[in-house]
Amino acid sequence: MTKALCEAPLQSGSSETLDPQNWDDIRALGHRMLDDMIDYAADIRDRPVWQPIPHEVRARFNAGLPRQPSELGAVYREFTDFIVPYATGNVHPGFMGWVHGGGSAVGMLAEMLAAGLNSNLGGRDHIPLEVEQQIVEWTRQMFGFPNTASGIFVTGTSMANLMAVLVARTTALGQAVRQRGLGDEGAVLTAYTSTAAHGCITKAMDIAGFGSDALRCIEVDRLHRVDVAALRARIVADRGAGKKPFLVVGSAGTVDIGAIDDLEALSALCREEQLWFHVDGAYGALGILSPVLAPRLTGLENADSIALDFHKWGQVPYDAGFLLVRDGDRHRATFSAPAAYLRRETRGLAAGSSWPCDLGPDLSRGFRALKTWFTLKTYGTEKLGAVITRTCALAGYLEARILAEPRLELLAPVQLNIVCFRYRAADADKVNRDIVIDIQESGIAAPSTTVIDGRLAIRAAIVNHRTDICDIDALIAAVLDFGAQRSSADGDELLEVAHSPPLAM
Ligand SMILES: Cc1ncc(COP(=O)(O)O)c(C=O)c1O
Repeated sequence: MTKALCEAPLQSGSSETLDPQNWDDIRALGHRMLDDMIDYAADIRDRPVWQPIPHEVRARFNAGLPRQPSELGAVYREFTDFIVPYATGNVHPGFMGWVHGGGSAVGMLAEMLAAGLNSNLGGRDHIPLEVEQQIVEWTRQMFGFPNTASGIFVTGTSMANLMAVLVARTTALGQAVRQRGLGDEGAVLTAYTSTAAHGCITKAMDIAGFGSDALRCIEVDRLHRVDVAALRARIVADRGAGKKPFLVVGSAGTVDIGAIDDLEALSALCREEQLWFHVDGAYGALGILSPVLAPRLTGLENADSIALDFHKWGQVPYDAGFLLVRDGDRHRATFSAPAAYLRRETRGLAAGSSWPCDLGPDLSRGFRALKTWFTLKTYGTEKLGAVITRTCALAGYLEARILAEPRLELLAPVQLNIVCFRYRAADADKVNRDIVIDIQESGIAAPSTTVIDGRLAIRAAIVNHRTDICDIDALIAAVLDFGAQRSSADGDELLEVAHSPPLAM
């Protein structure tokens, strides 16, 4: 220690602690915060879904580093005045953009409790790890995995997919890849997914060192499911060309339209070809909780690994991504790395042979499991499954309204909870992009956009358990209103409506 530090005066009962001088003050303010956030959720419909951030508000977050303390009440006022009104909006039932879960008051409370415990779930012997292990066990049961399976919470499916690619890599090349890198053998490995797969699979191949060219994106059928015959042919061709196929990534709910690959056919193909079968089930995998959807996920039980998010259809507050791996030994072989300071003991706080830090890149890990545990226990999987079924029924209602409205056009078959459509107009790409932004800025709803067969689509992903028929009606009314405004502003006549026939489902 430096001399100056040794000589600094040291007194007991120092005021340098961050605990309050008066716990009652923080208790009172804490109760108010809790009331305010419960009101926020209870009265969410009184708010705009989202609103543009005024320049002055954004500028407040360019302030200099606060060197001096501020009164907590004043900091909290900044939160209520300048953060709460400009949040993403996915708590609101009118939020249908991208694929965002709505969270719940139960999950919010659990998050506070987890922060109070401030546990680090990288490892060691404490009950929070047993809670995470309990979720691993429940998830294993949900998907019919063997009891040798392992699982771990991560930020989200992007991370879970990356980790699955790494487990598949170690399985293909052996553990030596961790010391020697991919080498010549790794350079000929190839992986397969569909053109409809999420971009994070490509990113995972890039980050894992294979390069995105080693990922073959196979064409999809009319329902955006991977063409299994084309996949098989590409594997054969690659083998013929000296490549070594090692991984197939199937999708259980594609990001654009919610297509589910033929998981049974993919699992059979992977078994035949001895390939790692990973499923990106970011939101769709939890469809297993819905008796209506579960049969469509047949084959998922044969996957070598599944990535999913409890923060999407599971309604757990962000973030709660998860990776489940059939063979826990392979999972551990990919990530465990002994270190003197992480030595395991047979008793004491360092007891326990397998710690989550052996199953992923993170050593510091929060207690994501607690909000998931509260959510699963409080609502039960039947109720969560019913919520999932209902979001699909609402998507069906939206589809029916679109098909009944000549000014609107359905752009993709509705298979799950995602609806892609647009307002008919001459310059439809521009008009629909503007419509989506207009609706977002109006605060009425928050759809997003995507491109389907080269055409810009308004995309409504109904994930939030709060979304109701009135929210779908409000979205349709807003699309028609803004569509009419945008078309007339652009001098764009509404097109004759007899053109494209309704999509066959
Ligand atoms: C099919 C699919 N895969 C992967 C992801 C990425 O998941 P995350 O945002 O949790 O990283 C998403 C996100 O919506 C998705 O829909």
